[in-house]
Amino acid sequence: MSGLFITLEGPEGAGKSTNREYLAARLREQGIDVLLTREPGGTPLAERIRELLLAPSDEAMAADTELLLVFAARAQHLAEVIRPALARGAVVLCDRFTDATYAYQGGGRGLSMERIAALESFVQGDLRPDLTLVFDLPVEVGLARAAARGRLDRFEQEGQGFFEAVRQTYLQRAAATTSRCRILDASQSLGAVQQSIDALLPEILERCRG
Ligand SMILES: Nc1ncnc2c1ncn2[C@@H]1O[C@H](COP(=O)(O)OP(=O)(O)OP(=O)(O)O)[C@@H](O)[C@H]1O
Ligand SMILES: [Mg+2]
Repeated sequence: MSGLFITLEGPEGAGKSTNREYLAARLREQGIDVLLTREPGGTPLAERIRELLLAPSDEAMAADTELLLVFAARAQHLAEVIRPALARGAVVLCDRFTDATYAYQGGGRGLSMERIAALESFVQGDLRPDLTLVFDLPVEVGLARAAARGRLDRFEQEGQGFFEAVRQTYLQRAAATTSRCRILDASQSLGAVQQSIDALLPEILERCRG
């Protein structure tokens, strides 16, 4: 039996975590085994790498260091959590995955997409998400939601241009892989966003059971 790998993507404050809980509740109502996790992180070691990635620091982190730390955390997360859960047939709902690497380290930092693709193949083999929900919203709306939560992490301290590039990379990738990605308008009210998730439920349930 092989489970279903669903990722939630989008910038800070887009509603990934809120809607991950919502989708998990809808699936659990149907008796489905759901595993919630996130990146960077998802295991104790990978969470320690997350702290390195997010903590503001006096020493600037080289973009290549950032990219390799993201994939180091991912290798651990895949080995310890994601692959075992998929092998037992669970639905894995993961808050950010490799599309975020293309968006932040590729779009935001300007690293080569080819280099990211090489690391993706190295770390993941041919494992890719089955379905990706891309929460899209204007940059300033997401940043305002994130700022309302308090102290900004190392990424949230970036400027408007960085986040515009992140957003455009997400949208380009979603447009290029429509069989895998669904773009949700995350600037709507939470109720409206959850209605769009409800609309995807029949497809998700069919894939779970298929
Ligand atoms: N559609 C919405 N309308 C208004 N507020 C929302 C909406 N969705 C989420 N929020 C609120 O915005 C804030 C950020 O939401 P959430 O934490 O789910 O975003 P996120 O995408 O997980 O962000 P991050 O990438 O920073 O973890 C929360 O306070 C949440 O309640
Ligand atoms: Mg979140």
